[in-house]
Amino acid sequence: MGLLRCCLLLLLYLSCVFCLPTGRNSICGYKSCPATIASMLNVHLVPHTHDDVGWLKTVDQYFYGGRNNIQHAGVQYILDSVIDQLQKDPARRFIYVETAFFYRWWKQQSQSTRRIVTQLVDEGRLEFINGGWCMSDEATTHYSAVIDQMTLGLRFLNDTFGECGRPRVAWHIDPFGHAREHASIFAQMGYDGFFFGRLDYQDKSRRMKTKEMEMLWRASESLKPPLADLFTGVLPNGYNPPEGFCWDQSCDDAPFQDDPDLEDYNVNEIVHKFLNASHKQAAFYKTNHIIMTMGSDFQYENANLWYKNMDKLIKYVNALQAKGSKVNVLYSTPSCYLQELNQANLTWPLKTDDFFPYADDAHDFWTGYFTSRPALKYYERLSNSRLQTCNQLEVLGGSKSTSGPFGEGDSDTMRRAMGVAQHHDAVSGTEKQHVANDYARRLATGWAHCEVLVSNSLAYLSGSAAPRVFCENLNISVCPLTEGSHKFSMNVYNPLGRTVRWPVRLPVNGSAYNVTDANGKAVDCEVIAVSTSTQEVRRNRGYAKNELVFQAQAPPLGYSTYIISRVQGQPPSSSFKTKSPYVIQNKFLKVRFDPNTGLLSSLTNLETQQTIRLTQNFYWYNASAGNNKESRQPSGAYIFRPNSSDLFIISKTAGIEMISVYNTVQEVTQRFSPWVSQVVRLYDDRKELELEWTVGPVPVADGLGKEVITRFDTDIKSTGYFYTDSNGREVLERRKDYRPTWDLKQTEPVAGNYYPINSRAYIKASSSQLLFIYLYPKFEAKQDEKCQLTFVTDRSQGASSIDNGSMEIMLHRRLLYDDFRGVGEPLSEPGEFYQGLVARGRLLLMLTSPDEAADVHRPLAQGMVLQPLLSFQDGSPAASMKLQFSGLQAALPPAVHLLTLSQWDKETVLIRLEHQYQAKESKTHSQPVTVNLRKLFSTLEVLGASEMSLGANQWKEDMNRLNWKNEANSKPLPPRARDSSPWEVTLNPMEIRTFLLRVR
Ligand SMILES: *[C@@H]1O[C@H](CO)[C@@H](O)[C@H](O)[C@H]1NC(C)=O
Ligand SMILES: [Zn+2]
Repeated sequence: MGLLRCCLLLLLYLSCVFCLPTGRNSICGYKSCPATIASMLNVHLVPHTHDDVGWLKTVDQYFYGGRNNIQHAGVQYILDSVIDQLQKDPARRFIYVETAFFYRWWKQQSQSTRRIVTQLVDEGRLEFINGGWCMSDEATTHYSAVIDQMTLGLRFLNDTFGECGRPRVAWHIDPFGHAREHASIFAQMGYDGFFFGRLDYQDKSRRMKTKEMEMLWRASESLKPPLADLFTGVLPNGYNPPEGFCWDQSCDDAPFQDDPDLEDYNVNEIVHKFLNASHKQAAFYKTNHIIMTMGSDFQYENANLWYKNMDKLIKYVNALQAKGSKVNVLYSTPSCYLQELNQANLTWPLKTDDFFPYADDAHDFWTGYFTSRPALKYYERLSNSRLQTCNQLEVLGGSKSTSGPFGEGDSDTMRRAMGVAQHHDAVSGTEKQHVANDYARRLATGWAHCEVLVSNSLAYLSGSAAPRVFCENLNISVCPLTEGSHKFSMNVYNPLGRTVRWPVRLPVNGSAYNVTDANGKAVDCEVIAVSTSTQEVRRNRGYAKNELVFQAQAPPLGYSTYIISRVQGQPPSSSFKTKSPYVIQNKFLKVRFDPNTGLLSSLTNLETQQTIRLTQNFYWYNASAGNNKESRQPSGAYIFRPNSSDLFIISKTAGIEMISVYNTVQEVTQRFSPWVSQVVRLYDDRKELELEWTVGPVPVADGLGKEVITRFDTDIKSTGYFYTDSNGREVLERRKDYRPTWDLKQTEPVAGNYYPINSRAYIKASSSQLLFIYLYPKFEAKQDEKCQLTFVTDRSQGASSIDNGSMEIMLHRRLLYDDFRGVGEPLSEPGEFYQGLVARGRLLLMLTSPDEAADVHRPLAQGMVLQPLLSFQDGSPAASMKLQFSGLQAALPPAVHLLTLSQWDKETVLIRLEHQYQAKESKTHSQPVTVNLRKLFSTLEVLGASEMSLGANQWKEDMNRLNWKNEANSKPLPPRARDSSPWEVTLNPMEIRTFLLRVR
């Protein structure tokens, strides 16, 4: 007894000493930076490793070092080895970047190792940089998922290390081009600076000459400076060490051989070479500080090699100072380097556009990955929608959601799967096929966990624990429950903060149905035969003959239930004869087809009476096989390299299979070839035209790789200008064969004009033309000069406007050669039946005046990103079941988007409210708007609110970023207007505000 008590006391004592942060002596952050010498050139050696969260191997294979036959890489050994080496000398530094790996490693460490690591972090010897779950891709990610993955990583770091775990610097050394929205997000997350490795080779050479490798990036046209200002630096050697100084076990450069008694003494030689490299590099930068990235992909598995030689480098180079050398080498970190730049107090050039597209040589444009793996790109986007729904229902269902009649569910699995999927070789489509499969499997597993949570939550909110079924394959008309059942109910959950109506299409086998809404009111519906194209894609995965089509509506942040019963003995809906067979129209839009070709021929906005000529067709570029006379670069997973600018038409005419005109929807089914078809749809109360395209399997038996596009040709005088979104948020102006910051020498007339689109793109009459009209008012504006044609997409894609009035979107790629950027496989996805992947997706088209365009495309794009979640229950619902629910007291104002609602811990939830309009883009909505946090929710009582940084790892009041002088020399702004009360929060255009709410 006595002994036991003694042990217990000892244990208690030990655990106090080991685990509590009290008494921790933290000198991390800028305070922990090494001293430098003002009169010398200071060379900051930054020991680092670049650990891809999946690429040639899966994330877990990389962590353990499995399948080293593919690539020798094991992150667990890297962290083991680095922690060992850091302890040997307090001067040594290391940075770590990818929290997905660090989290895996930390879980397995003993208390004593954790204590050592914590001390290294507290002393700034091990520093977290970037700190998201992964280093996200910038071209193909959506801002909502990027913010989530950053929040996940940063939260782990704060929970584990507190303030010393907070990264000061964003670090995207490998992504293939850089998005302005990413910079804006980093600024709002409180980062002081940003470094990257890859930019266009012409841009880089100009910046080196003009010493503009470091700049201030003004990353938003709407947010008031310096809110979205981010100091940005281009690293000198990508992220590699200067040539000759790679001392990793994977490198062959000579180590220091410093015993004069032995053969091959080489100290003078290495030191001399290093001084040369330092001076050469310093010539391109403005201050007497330069940074050298000492590491590369998966390096430091045996960290001793690196540190032993860097120790000697520092010793021998600095020893020359006694003989008058003016070079000082030191172990450092990106934040310590950044601090020196800040203290230099210079005026930095201002950057306002972005870093797309990225080319590393004249014929090597990295614009293929904007579209690579279109199905994975869609699955990732859909998974984001599902994660948001899962998060929301976890909050709305409370503790009943994670544990309930359907078992134990969670949102963490999905959150981590999405975190991994944002990596720059994940959603980008630049991984090996087996790794792409692994990402998809993780998302599916994540959803399986969410499905339980969502079912529990809906059971709690509705009072019905009857089995609930989710149908994964509605896009190919497969859902066993709806196909077989005579009576069932459909729950439609709406993750948006306003009431939304969506067209729903359910596979059925009956020919007539009654549909009633939650109030018992009959809903107009149609029964339409499943198209042949869908039957061909579906094969034997389902047998539904028809689709039941109706518009379903759900209240803000809530659900509505529809009851559907089969009516016996009635024929399917019959379609009307139209007056003119090649026209479909509703009260907003008139769509004409050319009777001779079957192609779209014009679009009329019936409200404004604007008509544009519009033809659409499908084409392919012949992918270069690497035997072209100008360059041997083939098209591949990363690179888009058409063999010539010629477009190969798939078919000059579209066979029109069906024109179906019903009360609620009108459809034209076009077939272009056995592997390309499309349904053009106009729903009766919608302003947009929907194009559902199906492409694949792309045939390659002719030995030609194909990059398949759809192109729209109009008479809009766009004069080379077009517009694309950045990560789904702000829109940037693009101009053919032009870059805003340097004189472009265009070497790839097609690939060099491609840009990523994440949710939308548009063309309109160019501003110069409007200026012309302004200068010569008598010159009457033609109709088309006031119109804008907007495209909303369901996933990230590559797009361009090569000819005036034209817009093309790349939908699918199937290639026969690897493009020599490391992936080592041609991009030829096998698909489920190993005959080539079939991809299907939707494009929405809107014809409006430029003035009202944003009012239509912003909400439409949000609705495309956050899809309704459908679930089904067989039979009649119990009388006690609650058929409708809204988590909000009232719909949010039209300008406000509920970006995040997720459970943070037991008593708190994280909420992000976003103003979804840019300044000046909408006459009605580009105004500040106020929301009352206390009056937001219908079922949650809000007890308190604390504002946080965008990454939710810092209280807003503690945010204090470094200031930078810039060319624009803008005066610091007066502090923003205070909210009138802690509950009333005001959002300015494009602003996102993040709060931790205490709720009951
Ligand atoms: C960071 O974590 C600490 C505990 O380590 C916690 O007390 C603090 O509130 C967290 N900060 C934020 C902004 O969440
Ligand atoms: Zn990488």
